[in-house]
Amino acid sequence: MEPDLDALLRSLRVWDPATTELPPFDPAAAPAEPLALFTRWFGEVVAAGQREPHTVTLATADAEGLPDARIVMLHGADADGWSFAGHAGSRKGRQLAARPYAALVFHWPVLGRQVRVRGPVAVAPPEAARADLRARSTGALAAALTGRQSEPLGSPAELARASAAAWDRAAADPDTPVPTWTLYRLRPDEVEFFQGDPRRRHVRLVYRRSGEGEWDTGLLWP
Ligand SMILES: Cc1cc2nc3c(=O)[nH]c(=O)nc-3n(C[C@H](O)[C@H](O)[C@H](O)COP(=O)(O)O)c2cc1C
Repeated sequence: MEPDLDALLRSLRVWDPATTELPPFDPAAAPAEPLALFTRWFGEVVAAGQREPHTVTLATADAEGLPDARIVMLHGADADGWSFAGHAGSRKGRQLAARPYAALVFHWPVLGRQVRVRGPVAVAPPEAARADLRARSTGALAAALTGRQSEPLGSPAELARASAAAWDRAAADPDTPVPTWTLYRLRPDEVEFFQGDPRRRHVRLVYRRSGEGEWDTGLLWP
């Protein structure tokens, strides 16, 4: 029998100081640019034991402007932007080709934090995508080699055959090129940091790009 969804939902809590450490956040003491704060917060959530803190919701819009979202892995963040990867022919790849603008949302419940990043998305040079893939695991290369991301799958057996062949190729030649595997870089216009508070006086600090390497900051009502 299925569980009672309403009862389960009512039994669950967020920003519960009994189970969650909710550190104070003083926006007045925050760095002048968002990457430094993102890096600081990332280090803190890793130290606090957040599982898979590098997984992030990637929101895109299709050619008609309808929204879509899925989880991807963050591959890096630097002056060129926040980077993630996928196949150019996948649904997200086609959406990004039609509308090269996206949003990322990180949720780090261990410290009651959320980070939102929005901005235009550029395709990194193919050498950067190759180097990125080379630095990852055999499994990541095998997944990339399996390809056909987001195409209809006829049967599990079809995937098993393609995946087995991809694992063999990945193990035999870790430098196998995967031309459709694409590294994307989101260069933020806006980055928002949210620190949850048990009394719901959540702190929201937003950075908006005001020039090259220059940011305005402001607070938002929670
Ligand atoms: C934890 C996790 C990490 C994932 N990482 C990636 C990733 O880095 N790149 C990717 O293309 N898909 C990744 N996926 C799969 C995507 O969520 C999605 O199923 C896939 O990219 C196809 O999405 P699309 O049809 O919108 O293109 C990940 C899924 C999960 C649950």
